[in-house]
Amino acid sequence: MAVPVPIRCRTSLSLVVVLAALQIQSLAQETPAPPRKIAVVGAGIGGSAVAHFLQQQFGPQVQIDVYEKGSVGGRLATVTVNSQQYECGSSSIHSLNLHMQDFVKLLGLKHRREITGKSAIFNGEQLILEETDWYLLNLFRLWWHYGISLLRLQMWVEEVMEKFMRIYKYQAYGYAFSTVDELLRSLGGENFISMMQRSVSESLLELGVTQRFIDDVIAALLRTGYGQPVSIPAFAGAISLAAAQGNRWAVEGGNTLVCSELLKQTKANVIQAQVTEIELHSTEGKTLYQVKHQANDEHASDFYDMVIIATPLHQEKGNITFRNFDPAVGEGPGSYHHIVSSVIHGYLNASYFGFPDPKLFPFASILATDNPGLFFNSLDNICPVNVSAGFRRKQPQEAAVWKVLSQQPLDKQQLKTLFRSYYSVQTTEWLAYPQYGSSNTVPPIVLHDNLFYLSSIEWAASSVEMSAVAAKNVALLAYNRWFQHLDKIDQKDLMQKVKTEL
Ligand SMILES: Cc1cc2nc3c(=O)[nH]c(=O)nc-3n(C[C@H](O)[C@H](O)[C@H](O)COP(=O)(O)OP(=O)(O)OC[C@H]3O[C@@H](n4cnc5c(N)ncnc54)[C@H](O)[C@@H]3O)c2cc1C
Ligand SMILES: *[C@@H]1O[C@H](CO)[C@@H](O)[C@H](O)[C@H]1NC(C)=O
Ligand SMILES: *[C@@H]1O[C@H](CO)[C@@H](O)[C@H](O)[C@H]1NC(C)=O
Ligand SMILES: *[C@@H]1O[C@H](CO)[C@@H](O)[C@H](O)[C@H]1NC(C)=O
Repeated sequence: MAVPVPIRCRTSLSLVVVLAALQIQSLAQETPAPPRKIAVVGAGIGGSAVAHFLQQQFGPQVQIDVYEKGSVGGRLATVTVNSQQYECGSSSIHSLNLHMQDFVKLLGLKHRREITGKSAIFNGEQLILEETDWYLLNLFRLWWHYGISLLRLQMWVEEVMEKFMRIYKYQAYGYAFSTVDELLRSLGGENFISMMQRSVSESLLELGVTQRFIDDVIAALLRTGYGQPVSIPAFAGAISLAAAQGNRWAVEGGNTLVCSELLKQTKANVIQAQVTEIELHSTEGKTLYQVKHQANDEHASDFYDMVIIATPLHQEKGNITFRNFDPAVGEGPGSYHHIVSSVIHGYLNASYFGFPDPKLFPFASILATDNPGLFFNSLDNICPVNVSAGFRRKQPQEAAVWKVLSQQPLDKQQLKTLFRSYYSVQTTEWLAYPQYGSSNTVPPIVLHDNLFYLSSIEWAASSVEMSAVAAKNVALLAYNRWFQHLDKIDQKDLMQKVKTEL
């Protein structure tokens, strides 16, 4: 909570000065000074964005230290093949992801030129749905196969998106939420809350979407998006399906540039170290957090007025011990889902997908259905992060760079099945997103007075923009709590309030 900072007055020369000083002091008690030092744990998009938003709120005099144990960018990352970089983590951003759009503009970055390619869905034996060059033909095929299901799906996803987009308006007016439930409730009412408890398939079946459409199309999209089945909660599912619906973009030079440039612009101190412990010190009504960290076996610590945790707190991820907190602060609930990304430079085995002549294989992307016998989730012919004007996508008969997402690392046999031959394979193992269903509770955002947990939002849905939305929410929440603007926290009927404030 707000900690009034007493003004130290020097021995005054006259009564006037003393009185004046007293007046300043009483003013100062009404508006406490901003925090002096804030620590952010994690320099992924969540941590980088929160550093930026905190500075926007509290002003440039606040010192912001960002601790990162790995690389800036976190799950936004690249690997290098033949001296060109390729995304191996999060690859695409939706056009309606407004915080990401703002960052790119603010930082003078560019949208990467899009090289279109067609997709198909593979069930382990054959391609069950193939995109064509003809927009109308695609629609016709979907209609032929699945009837009105496609339309119902689109309307459902659009409704969720439209309600979700209210967050940008609320945030522009400075409103914050102290729990993920409050945030969702204010956007989509009890319907959003129930979408956290019900599965995608249940929700879609109720809308009249057919089981066949769910098994063929939805299952493949969710397997690509979250590596998980149609039993995941409807809210996470809707966000993932929205992302699959056209209008996606990426950042020229790599998505991770958004993180590094945000940190540069904020002039945050990036400290290359792993935070191991956070200890609470409360003396004389003043709360300080001691952040203990280590790098190359060297231990050190520092004191902060405020701490933002911008990494999942699970042992295999954040692995931070909290001391002296009552009630205790612990590990996050549930577990994280394992995904392996393999970036492979080689020749696709188009025969495996039923195309003995690779020249005739027209797809840039293959999505797998939920067939447990299938050893991969998706396969994409990918372009480098810098796309020059003359760039063209490699043809399937040429050596190309492919990204395969799978649950387990691909073994030699599996590589030989997917590729006629290959030059290189680079694997990155991710604890990629929550294992939805491994916990029924969403962790809190407020862990203590001025200690916040940004990544709890991932239990509603995990995406680059969700982390950016959570970053803005945490910065506003921290600010509103510090200065006691309680009328800006967890307000009801915000749509109405925002309208009348215009
Ligand atoms: C393969 C893959 C594909 C994806 N595809 C997409 C996509 O297409 N679109 C999309 O929107 N989302 C996608 N996502 C999800 C998206 O990448 C994440 O939701 C988002 O990047 C999370 O960002 P974050 O900053 O919250 O967490 P992270 O990026 O995980 O950042 C946390 C950071 O904290 C650091 N850290 C952890 N513990 C400590 C510690 N104790 N001390 C110091 N530092 C610590 C970590 O090293 C890490 O850098 C994908 C994810 C993966 C893995
Ligand atoms: C890639 O793009 C980024 C951003 O525009 C630029 O800074 C970088 O120099 C480019 N790299 C190459 C190798 O062209
Ligand atoms: C978590 O940290 C503790 C102590 O810092 C360490 O002993 C343990 O091995 C770590 N766990 C993981 C999974 O890294
Ligand atoms: C390619 O796929 C075909 C058909 O599934 C398979 O018989 C063959 O072993 C695969 N591998 C290579 C290297 O051709």
